[in-house]
Amino acid sequence: MSSSDYGQHYSVQKEDILKLLKEHFSTEDNLNFADLTFGAGGHTTAMANLFPNAKLYSFDQDPDALANGQEHLIKNNLKDRVCLIDSNFVNFDNVLEEDLKFDAVLLDAGVSSHQFDTGERGFSFRFDAPLDMRMNPKSSDPTAADLLNELSMEELQSIFSEYGEEKFSKTIAKNIVEQRSQKPIRTTKELEDICFHSYPKKLRFGKISPATKVFQALRIKVNKELDVLSEVIGRVIPRLKNGGLFMIISFHSLEDRIVKHGFKSWKDDNYPIEILTKKPILPSSQEIFENSRSRSAKLRVIKKVNDWPSKNKYAKKE
Ligand SMILES: C[S@@+](CC[C@H](N)C(=O)[O-])C[C@H]1O[C@@H](n2cnc3c(N)ncnc32)[C@H](O)[C@@H]1O
Repeated sequence: MSSSDYGQHYSVQKEDILKLLKEHFSTEDNLNFADLTFGAGGHTTAMANLFPNAKLYSFDQDPDALANGQEHLIKNNLKDRVCLIDSNFVNFDNVLEEDLKFDAVLLDAGVSSHQFDTGERGFSFRFDAPLDMRMNPKSSDPTAADLLNELSMEELQSIFSEYGEEKFSKTIAKNIVEQRSQKPIRTTKELEDICFHSYPKKLRFGKISPATKVFQALRIKVNKELDVLSEVIGRVIPRLKNGGLFMIISFHSLEDRIVKHGFKSWKDDNYPIEILTKKPILPSSQEIFENSRSRSAKLRVIKKVNDWPSKNKYAKKE
Protein backbone atom coordinates (compact mmCIF):
# COMPACT_ATOMS: atom_id res chain seq x y z
CA MET A 1 0.00 0.00 0.00
CA SER A 2 1.21 3.51 -0.71
CA SER A 3 0.13 6.92 0.48
CA SER A 4 -2.44 7.10 -2.30
CA ASP A 5 -4.22 3.91 -1.20
CA TYR A 6 -6.20 5.41 1.67
CA GLY A 7 -9.45 4.64 -0.16
CA GLN A 8 -12.76 4.65 1.67
CA HIS A 9 -12.30 5.52 5.34
CA TYR A 10 -14.75 5.35 8.23
CA SER A 11 -14.18 8.07 10.82
CA VAL A 12 -15.21 6.80 14.25
CA GLN A 13 -18.00 8.73 16.06
CA LYS A 14 -17.97 11.42 13.37
CA GLU A 15 -21.67 12.15 13.83
CA ASP A 16 -21.21 12.52 17.60
CA ILE A 17 -18.38 15.00 17.02
CA LEU A 18 -20.37 17.05 14.50
CA LYS A 19 -23.43 17.05 16.77
CA LEU A 20 -21.37 18.41 19.68
CA LEU A 21 -19.86 21.12 17.50
CA LYS A 22 -23.28 22.14 16.15
CA GLU A 23 -24.66 22.34 19.69
CA HIS A 24 -21.89 24.73 20.73
CA PHE A 25 -21.14 26.87 17.68
CA SER A 26 -22.90 28.51 14.80
CA THR A 27 -21.80 27.12 11.45
CA GLU A 28 -21.18 30.71 10.27
CA ASP A 29 -18.66 31.49 13.06
CA ASN A 30 -14.97 32.13 12.43
CA LEU A 31 -13.52 29.32 14.49
CA ASN A 32 -10.16 27.70 15.17
CA PHE A 33 -10.19 23.90 15.30
CA ALA A 34 -7.36 21.42 15.81
CA ASP A 35 -7.42 17.76 14.79
CA LEU A 36 -4.50 16.08 16.54
CA THR A 37 -4.77 12.85 14.52
CA PHE A 38 -5.44 13.67 10.86
CA GLY A 39 -5.13 10.05 9.58
CA ALA A 40 -7.20 9.79 6.41
CA GLY A 41 -8.61 13.25 7.09
CA GLY A 42 -12.18 12.10 7.69
CA HIS A 43 -12.84 14.17 10.80
CA THR A 44 -10.89 17.18 9.54
CA THR A 45 -12.86 17.20 6.28
CA ALA A 46 -16.23 16.80 7.99
CA MET A 47 -15.46 19.63 10.42
CA ALA A 48 -14.17 21.91 7.66
CA ASN A 49 -17.21 21.24 5.48
CA LEU A 50 -19.72 21.87 8.25
CA PHE A 51 -18.00 25.11 9.33
CA PRO A 52 -17.03 26.92 6.12
CA ASN A 53 -15.37 29.82 8.00
CA ALA A 54 -13.31 27.64 10.32
CA LYS A 55 -9.55 27.30 10.16
CA LEU A 56 -8.11 23.89 11.05
CA TYR A 57 -4.70 22.82 12.33
CA SER A 58 -4.32 19.09 11.71
CA PHE A 59 -1.44 17.00 13.02
CA ASP A 60 -0.01 13.67 11.97
CA GLN A 61 3.36 12.04 12.45
CA ASP A 62 3.00 9.46 9.69
CA PRO A 63 4.59 10.44 6.35
CA ASP A 64 1.98 8.38 4.43
CA ALA A 65 -0.89 10.21 6.16
CA LEU A 66 0.73 13.56 5.43
CA ALA A 67 1.44 12.81 1.75
CA ASN A 68 -2.08 11.51 1.26
CA GLY A 69 -3.38 14.48 3.24
CA GLN A 70 -1.76 17.06 0.97
CA GLU A 71 -3.41 15.46 -2.08
CA HIS A 72 -6.71 15.12 -0.23
CA LEU A 73 -6.78 18.79 0.79
CA ILE A 74 -6.10 19.96 -2.76
CA LYS A 75 -8.81 17.65 -4.17
CA ASN A 76 -11.30 18.88 -1.60
CA ASN A 77 -10.44 22.53 -1.95
CA LEU A 78 -9.38 22.79 1.67
CA LYS A 79 -5.74 23.76 1.25
CA ASP A 80 -6.39 27.37 2.31
CA ARG A 81 -8.22 26.49 5.50
CA VAL A 82 -6.49 23.34 6.72
CA CYS A 83 -2.92 23.57 7.87
CA LEU A 84 -1.38 20.08 7.93
CA ILE A 85 1.34 19.81 10.55
CA ASP A 86 4.08 17.18 10.35
CA SER A 87 4.61 16.52 14.04
CA ASN A 88 3.84 14.33 16.97
CA PHE A 89 0.85 15.97 18.67
CA VAL A 90 2.79 16.03 21.91
CA ASN A 91 4.57 19.07 20.42
CA PHE A 92 1.22 20.87 20.12
CA ASP A 93 2.39 23.76 22.23
CA ASN A 94 5.80 24.24 20.62
CA VAL A 95 4.80 24.17 16.97
CA LEU A 96 1.83 26.56 17.19
CA GLU A 97 2.04 30.30 17.64
CA GLU A 98 2.00 31.20 21.29
CA ASP A 99 -1.25 33.18 21.26
CA LEU A 100 -3.26 30.78 19.10
CA LYS A 101 -6.32 29.52 21.01
CA PHE A 102 -8.92 26.97 20.00
CA ASP A 103 -12.69 26.62 19.87
CA ALA A 104 -12.40 22.85 19.58
CA VAL A 105 -9.68 20.23 19.62
CA LEU A 106 -10.21 16.61 18.60
CA LEU A 107 -7.98 13.61 19.31
CA ASP A 108 -8.92 10.26 17.76
CA ALA A 109 -6.32 8.00 19.39
CA GLY A 110 -4.36 5.04 18.11
CA VAL A 111 -3.29 3.75 14.74
CA SER A 112 -5.21 4.07 11.49
CA SER A 113 -6.67 1.28 9.36
CA HIS A 114 -4.12 2.31 6.73
CA GLN A 115 -1.28 1.61 9.16
CA PHE A 116 -2.77 -1.77 10.14
CA ASP A 117 -3.42 -2.74 6.56
CA THR A 118 -0.02 -1.76 5.17
CA GLY A 119 1.90 -5.01 5.66
CA GLU A 120 5.41 -3.56 5.54
CA ARG A 121 4.70 -1.27 8.51
CA GLY A 122 4.79 -4.33 10.76
CA PHE A 123 1.66 -3.53 12.83
CA SER A 124 -0.16 -6.71 11.89
CA PHE A 125 0.71 -10.40 11.89
CA ARG A 126 -1.64 -10.85 8.93
CA PHE A 127 1.40 -9.99 6.80
CA ASP A 128 4.98 -11.25 6.98
CA ALA A 129 7.06 -8.11 7.44
CA PRO A 130 9.84 -6.56 9.50
CA LEU A 131 8.68 -5.69 13.02
CA ASP A 132 8.77 -1.90 12.78
CA MET A 133 5.47 -0.48 14.20
CA ARG A 134 6.64 3.13 14.35
CA MET A 135 3.89 5.53 13.25
CA ASN A 136 6.72 7.75 12.15
CA PRO A 137 9.20 5.39 10.49
CA LYS A 138 11.55 8.31 9.81
CA SER A 139 12.17 8.83 13.51
CA SER A 140 15.25 7.44 15.23
CA ASP A 141 13.09 5.73 17.88
CA PRO A 142 13.61 1.99 18.43
CA THR A 143 11.45 -0.33 16.35
CA ALA A 144 9.44 -3.21 17.80
CA ALA A 145 12.25 -5.57 16.74
CA ASP A 146 14.81 -3.41 18.59
CA LEU A 147 12.75 -3.65 21.78
CA LEU A 148 12.20 -7.41 21.43
CA ASN A 149 15.90 -8.04 20.99
CA GLU A 150 17.22 -5.58 23.56
CA LEU A 151 14.89 -5.40 26.56
CA SER A 152 15.22 -7.79 29.47
CA MET A 153 12.77 -10.64 29.98
CA GLU A 154 11.21 -8.78 32.94
CA GLU A 155 10.74 -5.62 30.88
CA LEU A 156 9.10 -7.55 28.03
CA GLN A 157 6.83 -9.37 30.43
CA SER A 158 5.72 -6.13 32.04
CA ILE A 159 5.00 -4.51 28.63
CA PHE A 160 2.86 -7.46 27.54
CA SER A 161 1.01 -7.63 30.80
CA GLU A 162 0.58 -3.88 31.39
CA TYR A 163 -0.21 -2.70 27.85
CA GLY A 164 -1.74 -5.90 26.52
CA GLU A 165 -3.23 -7.46 29.65
CA GLU A 166 -1.76 -10.69 28.25
CA LYS A 167 -2.24 -13.64 30.62
CA PHE A 168 0.72 -15.60 29.29
CA SER A 169 3.13 -12.65 29.27
CA LYS A 170 5.72 -14.49 31.35
CA THR A 171 5.94 -17.55 29.06
CA ILE A 172 5.94 -15.36 25.95
CA ALA A 173 8.76 -13.16 27.31
CA LYS A 174 10.75 -16.26 28.33
CA ASN A 175 10.34 -17.82 24.88
CA ILE A 176 11.35 -14.56 23.16
CA VAL A 177 14.56 -14.41 25.18
CA GLU A 178 15.29 -18.09 24.43
CA GLN A 179 14.67 -17.65 20.73
CA ARG A 180 16.71 -14.47 20.37
CA SER A 181 19.73 -16.11 22.01
CA GLN A 182 19.94 -18.23 18.85
CA LYS A 183 18.96 -15.60 16.28
CA PRO A 184 17.45 -12.06 16.55
CA ILE A 185 13.67 -11.85 16.09
CA ARG A 186 12.98 -9.70 13.06
CA THR A 187 9.56 -10.40 11.57
CA THR A 188 5.88 -10.34 12.45
CA LYS A 189 5.49 -14.02 11.61
CA GLU A 190 8.40 -15.02 13.88
CA LEU A 191 6.76 -13.19 16.78
CA GLU A 192 3.32 -14.59 15.97
CA ASP A 193 4.81 -18.08 16.01
CA ILE A 194 6.42 -17.57 19.43
CA CYS A 195 3.13 -16.29 20.88
CA PHE A 196 1.23 -19.21 19.37
CA HIS A 197 3.59 -21.79 20.89
CA SER A 198 3.61 -19.99 24.25
CA TYR A 199 -0.14 -20.59 24.68
CA PRO A 200 -1.45 -23.85 26.11
CA LYS A 201 -2.50 -26.10 23.22
CA LYS A 202 -6.23 -25.93 24.00
CA LEU A 203 -6.24 -22.10 23.92
CA ARG A 204 -4.32 -21.58 20.68
CA PHE A 205 -7.35 -21.35 18.41
CA GLY A 206 -9.57 -19.05 20.50
CA LYS A 207 -11.60 -16.07 19.31
CA ILE A 208 -8.55 -13.83 19.30
CA SER A 209 -5.10 -14.93 18.23
CA PRO A 210 -2.42 -15.56 20.89
CA ALA A 211 -0.44 -12.76 19.19
CA THR A 212 -3.11 -10.01 19.30
CA LYS A 213 -2.39 -8.60 22.76
CA VAL A 214 1.38 -8.78 22.39
CA PHE A 215 1.18 -6.84 19.11
CA GLN A 216 -1.06 -4.22 20.75
CA ALA A 217 1.30 -3.92 23.72
CA LEU A 218 4.40 -3.53 21.56
CA ARG A 219 2.76 -0.93 19.36
CA ILE A 220 1.76 1.12 22.41
CA LYS A 221 5.31 0.91 23.78
CA VAL A 222 7.05 1.69 20.46
CA ASN A 223 4.95 4.83 19.93
CA LYS A 224 4.80 5.82 23.63
CA GLU A 225 1.06 6.12 23.04
CA LEU A 226 0.04 6.42 26.68
CA ASP A 227 2.78 8.90 27.58
CA VAL A 228 1.95 11.30 24.76
CA LEU A 229 -1.78 11.03 25.42
CA SER A 230 -1.27 11.86 29.05
CA GLU A 231 1.06 14.77 28.24
CA VAL A 232 -1.02 16.36 25.49
CA ILE A 233 -4.02 16.83 27.77
CA GLY A 234 -2.08 19.41 29.76
CA ARG A 235 -0.82 21.09 26.60
CA VAL A 236 -4.23 21.50 25.01
CA ILE A 237 -6.41 22.59 27.93
CA PRO A 238 -4.68 25.96 28.48
CA ARG A 239 -5.07 26.63 24.74
CA LEU A 240 -8.89 26.40 24.79
CA LYS A 241 -10.89 29.61 24.38
CA ASN A 242 -13.73 30.20 26.79
CA GLY A 243 -16.46 27.88 25.52
CA GLY A 244 -13.83 25.72 23.77
CA LEU A 245 -14.21 21.93 23.60
CA PHE A 246 -11.62 19.17 23.92
CA MET A 247 -12.94 15.85 22.56
CA ILE A 248 -10.97 12.61 22.89
CA ILE A 249 -11.89 9.26 21.36
CA SER A 250 -10.06 6.35 23.00
CA PHE A 251 -10.05 2.67 22.10
CA HIS A 252 -9.04 0.71 25.17
CA SER A 253 -9.33 0.95 28.92
CA LEU A 254 -5.74 2.15 29.45
CA GLU A 255 -6.33 5.16 27.20
CA ASP A 256 -9.78 5.87 28.58
CA ARG A 257 -8.45 5.84 32.13
CA ILE A 258 -5.80 8.42 31.22
CA VAL A 259 -8.38 10.69 29.58
CA LYS A 260 -10.88 10.38 32.43
CA HIS A 261 -8.27 11.04 35.13
CA GLY A 262 -6.47 13.70 33.09
CA PHE A 263 -9.66 15.74 32.69
CA LYS A 264 -10.65 15.19 36.30
CA SER A 265 -7.30 16.32 37.68
CA TRP A 266 -7.56 19.69 35.87
CA LYS A 267 -11.09 20.12 37.17
CA ASP A 268 -10.05 19.15 40.72
CA ASP A 269 -7.27 21.69 40.45
CA ASN A 270 -9.97 24.37 39.91
CA TYR A 271 -9.08 25.01 36.31
CA PRO A 272 -12.29 26.42 34.76
CA ILE A 273 -13.48 23.42 32.79
CA GLU A 274 -16.72 21.52 32.80
CA ILE A 275 -16.71 17.78 32.16
CA LEU A 276 -19.53 17.33 29.64
CA THR A 277 -19.38 13.52 29.71
CA LYS A 278 -19.81 12.09 33.19
CA LYS A 279 -20.08 8.81 31.29
CA PRO A 280 -18.35 8.55 27.90
CA ILE A 281 -20.40 8.82 24.70
CA LEU A 282 -20.44 5.42 22.96
CA PRO A 283 -20.98 4.73 19.26
CA SER A 284 -24.51 3.76 18.23
CA SER A 285 -25.27 0.12 17.46
CA GLN A 286 -25.74 1.20 13.83
CA GLU A 287 -22.20 2.60 13.77
CA ILE A 288 -20.78 -0.56 15.34
CA PHE A 289 -22.65 -2.61 12.73
CA GLU A 290 -21.20 -0.48 9.92
CA ASN A 291 -17.67 -0.33 11.33
CA SER A 292 -16.61 -2.97 13.83
CA ARG A 293 -13.47 -0.98 14.78
CA SER A 294 -15.74 1.53 16.51
CA ARG A 295 -17.05 -1.08 19.00
CA SER A 296 -14.47 -0.19 21.66
CA ALA A 297 -14.54 3.59 21.11
CA LYS A 298 -15.32 5.98 23.97
CA LEU A 299 -15.67 9.72 23.54
CA ARG A 300 -14.99 12.07 26.46
CA VAL A 301 -15.45 15.82 26.24
CA ILE A 302 -14.64 18.86 28.34
CA LYS A 303 -15.54 22.49 27.87
CA LYS A 304 -13.52 25.48 29.01
CA VAL A 305 -15.95 27.67 30.90
CA ASN A 306 -15.84 31.36 31.68
CA ASP A 307 -12.88 32.31 33.68
CA TRP A 308 -13.63 34.38 36.77
CA PRO A 309 -10.27 35.76 37.89
CA SER A 310 -10.94 35.41 41.60
CA LYS A 311 -12.06 31.79 41.36
CA ASN A 312 -9.07 29.93 40.09
CA LYS A 313 -5.38 29.88 40.61
CA TYR A 314 -4.56 29.87 36.88
CA ALA A 315 -6.39 33.10 36.07
CA LYS A 316 -3.38 35.39 36.33
CA LYS A 317 -1.20 33.22 34.08
CA GLU A 318 -3.53 33.61 31.05
C1 LIG B 1 -7.17 6.62 14.21
S1 LIG B 1 -6.26 7.48 13.00
C2 LIG B 1 -7.13 8.97 12.80
C3 LIG B 1 -8.25 8.90 11.79
C4 LIG B 1 -8.87 10.26 11.51
N1 LIG B 1 -9.52 10.79 12.66
C5 LIG B 1 -9.81 10.20 10.34
O1 LIG B 1 -11.00 10.53 10.50
O2 LIG B 1 -9.36 9.87 9.24
C6 LIG B 1 -4.89 8.00 13.90
C7 LIG B 1 -3.86 8.82 13.13
O3 LIG B 1 -3.20 9.61 14.09
C8 LIG B 1 -1.84 9.55 13.92
N2 LIG B 1 -1.24 9.66 15.25
C9 LIG B 1 -1.40 8.82 16.29
N3 LIG B 1 -0.70 9.25 17.36
C10 LIG B 1 -0.11 10.41 16.97
C11 LIG B 1 0.73 11.34 17.63
N4 LIG B 1 1.14 11.15 18.88
N5 LIG B 1 1.13 12.44 16.95
C12 LIG B 1 0.74 12.64 15.66
N6 LIG B 1 -0.05 11.78 14.98
C13 LIG B 1 -0.47 10.68 15.62
C14 LIG B 1 -1.54 8.23 13.26
O4 LIG B 1 -0.36 8.32 12.51
C15 LIG B 1 -2.79 8.02 12.41
O5 LIG B 1 -2.59 8.49 11.11
